[in-house]
Amino acid sequence: MIEQIKNLKAEIASLQATSADEVEALRIKYLSKKGVINQLMADFRQLPPEQKREVGAPLNELKTLATDTINALKEALTAADDMDPNLDLSRSVAPLPLGTRHPLSLVREEIISIFSRLGFTVAEGPEIEDDWHVFSALNFAPDHPARDMQDTFFIMRDPDILLRTHTSSVQVRVMEHAKPPIRILAPGRVYRNEAISARAHCFFHQVEGLYVDRNVSFADLKQSLLYFAQEMFGPDTKIRLRPSYFPFTEPSAEMDISCNLCGGKGCSFCKHTGWVEILGCGMVDPAVLDACGIDSRQYTGFAFGMGIERITNLKYQVKDLRLFSENDRRFLEQFQAAHL
Ligand code: PHE
Repeated sequence: MIEQIKNLKAEIASLQATSADEVEALRIKYLSKKGVINQLMADFRQLPPEQKREVGAPLNELKTLATDTINALKEALTAADDMDPNLDLSRSVAPLPLGTRHPLSLVREEIISIFSRLGFTVAEGPEIEDDWHVFSALNFAPDHPARDMQDTFFIMRDPDILLRTHTSSVQVRVMEHAKPPIRILAPGRVYRNEAISARAHCFFHQVEGLYVDRNVSFADLKQSLLYFAQEMFGPDTKIRLRPSYFPFTEPSAEMDISCNLCGGKGCSFCKHTGWVEILGCGMVDPAVLDACGIDSRQYTGFAFGMGIERITNLKYQVKDLRLFSENDRRFLEQFQAAHL
């Protein structure tokens, strides 16, 4: 009987089935009431006690093996049934849609990368500022209209705490703590109390730059900005500086570039002038250097500031400012292929 059990174990261990019917046939053959194993159990009960002791354990093992094997065959078949017969397991995974970078981030990074080649590093500061860093240190007269409720968002009706209206506040913070030479870029979000339209928004983004050292001249400013314009808009780009006014620079200028759409010939984008304005700039007013603790008899500096939205409009011809903050995927996905 021991021999018989051994043979059956080997036989059961190698059982195979390809359908539920085959598994059922095996179950009947081995495990049903009249099946092989029950037959052995009946024989076992007839054995004398000393043989029972010998056969009991292997016989139980045989029963467990048969039950487990047949259950496993059944499970394997139901798992296979659940599988879609058309499923192609060799197919590569479905491509995941790639995210895109926001056009303002792309342009901000490009501006930073161009000026970093001239030795500028990035500085940051708070968006909630005080009057000193946004206005007073920058030479704004107490009654300057920019301080007016029309332009500036004040926090909690406190005239001292406000949302910065430009990132020049970061330049003040840097000058207060660093010693020249200073060469920084201040990128960031700024806020102005304007009605939202295609051409204006209550927040936008700037990159401002500041260079303070001994003997910094207007020629340095002009050459740095020419380098920037040609790197950003192409080597044929021309620049022109028009006199302007900012409280914190003297002399001050606004810079135009030759229209990058018509090449300067004149089109509707440049209002047929051939030029488009892109930034404000000037030599840092000595009063500002002194207010920030830098000796204006030893040092001079230049500063410039531009709106990232403006540069992005020129680069990608985005006509409506509101598109930048609406997060419409149809707009954002167009920048899929844009790269630095
Ligand atoms: N702070 C100015 C603005 O927000 C830009 C500017 C920066 C002009 C530095 C001149 C020099 O409009």
